[in-house]
Amino acid sequence: MQTVHTAAELRAALGGQTGVAFVPTMGNLHAGHVSLVELAKQHGTPVVASIFVNPLQFGAGEDFERYPRTLAADCKKLEAAGCDVVFAPDVAEMYPVPQTFTVQPPETLANDLCGACRPGHFAGVATVVLKLFNLVRPRIAVFGNKDFQQLHVIRGMVEQFNLPITIVAGETLREPDGLAMSSRNGYLSTAERIQAPQLQRELSAIVAAVETGMRDFDTLAASARRRLNMAGWRVDYVAVRDAETLHPPHADSRQLVALGAAWLGRTRLIDNLRFSCTGA
Ligand code: PAF
Repeated sequence: MQTVHTAAELRAALGGQTGVAFVPTMGNLHAGHVSLVELAKQHGTPVVASIFVNPLQFGAGEDFERYPRTLAADCKKLEAAGCDVVFAPDVAEMYPVPQTFTVQPPETLANDLCGACRPGHFAGVATVVLKLFNLVRPRIAVFGNKDFQQLHVIRGMVEQFNLPITIVAGETLREPDGLAMSSRNGYLSTAERIQAPQLQRELSAIVAAVETGMRDFDTLAASARRRLNMAGWRVDYVAVRDAETLHPPHADSRQLVALGAAWLGRTRLIDNLRFSCTGA
């Protein structure tokens, strides 16, 4: 496995190859990331992973500075997973001049759910991902389903800008108690870590209620928010949406997703569960 830090080194490592499978990450890798690399490997082409903590997608006061940078450990995991090239640029390499051209997802998407709580976040994500796509020139790119709205943004960008890239979604990996794996789980105190699976349990409760015929999604989401608040969480949102459009479900919505984002102390966790709904 080669580790490169500049666009020029990346070009040399790729040697004109454009058919690679790409796994963009911000590092501090866990088993969920490794599973994305394994998924990329299944496509039988060389695998490139990037490690870049992208300042453009962090708001003022968010965790950009304290986001763990663990390059050496990450490279070991990537190598063991069969990754061929790691691209780990620094901020000056990715943004040699201020990034005044940006990719702006539609406002209804950019300012909804996570975007409502993190203004500018999805423009920052879409912009860096487009830049990474242009540098790596992959045929396939793999993203985790855990960042469900991010995946929706990337799919929309790829479709509307005619990018010749197939987006592949990897399933969320969970700890034995149900907590979705996340680089941010490492921020949790021991007590918070014990409490953290409640977010997933609340989403599961919504799914279970819909499966028994409940269709009042707003009431279900409000109950989940109330229980989380009572347990000491600070809830950004809990919502049920159409999984294809991310819009509020309509009578014909068959694939739904229950999504939530909430803070435990200084840690913001997100999760989602996709499920089928057989109609009202
Ligand atoms: O999901 C992430 O880790 C990041 O948002 C991504 C896609 C690597 C862009 O910085």
